[in-house]
Amino acid sequence: MTKGSLVDAARHVAIIMDGNGRWAQKRGKPRLFGHHAGSKRVREILQSCPHLGVKYLTIFAFSTENWRRTQEEVAGLMTLFRRYIIREAENLNNNGVRVRFIGDRMRLATSLVDLMDNLEMITRDNDIVHLTIAINYGGRDEVARAAQRLAYDVKSGRLLPKEINEKTLPRYLDTYVLPDPDLLIRTSGEARISNFLLWQAAYSEYDFVDTLWPDFTPAMFEEALARFANRTRRFGGIPA
Ligand code: IPE
Ligand code: IPE
Ligand code: MG
Repeated sequence: MTKGSLVDAARHVAIIMDGNGRWAQKRGKPRLFGHHAGSKRVREILQSCPHLGVKYLTIFAFSTENWRRTQEEVAGLMTLFRRYIIREAENLNNNGVRVRFIGDRMRLATSLVDLMDNLEMITRDNDIVHLTIAINYGGRDEVARAAQRLAYDVKSGRLLPKEINEKTLPRYLDTYVLPDPDLLIRTSGEARISNFLLWQAAYSEYDFVDTLWPDFTPAMFEEALARFANRTRRFGGIPA
């Protein structure tokens, strides 16, 4: 693979959309104002995916740790997710976007889970871009839930302990149908992964950008992809 060639295009990009609160604060507005602005950004980034060669886009919307925020912010975010699904469903479907949700649905309101299930169902035959939205998602929680289901399968004899390996274990993760992310972008200047895709991002390239999520444009997205194309991935080997 030559550097910067199309072969190096990031097929799966994961984004930690961070900085909504600070964006609002800078404007003297409530944090939810920032979340609202942030939700609008998703559409443009998603629209730019097909021509940038991005087939899978996975976005972090709410972590298992975000319940620690005020009741007002959490409730506002949940309302925002409902409205986002209702508002965007038709547009997503018309643009050939297949939507999936990852994370633990047990703690989410039925009204939201129903909307999520329905959006997954109506978009299931689409294949232009695969959008995965992480809501109440935590990498550790995902691995723990996977371990639990795996244990049940072992107990019932569907899987033998000796069959547990790097190929069979990921089948129990929420992301079982997705390839691993090639590139993981985090906005807002924080250089940490905050419990996102712990297993899947083992060999992802990381790109930390200072821009706050509501200011992140498709041009910046394209720049991140260009930086990615100039990196050499080794996967533990020796570059050719
Ligand atoms: C990211 O923005 C969105 C969510 C975590 C829901 P933040 O709300 O974390 O914004 P900052 O980091 O406080 O600026
Ligand atoms: C990560 O951002 C979660 C999402 C973007 C949804 P946080 O703002 O919650 O992460 P920390 O608290 O800065 O690590
Ligand atoms: Mg944050």
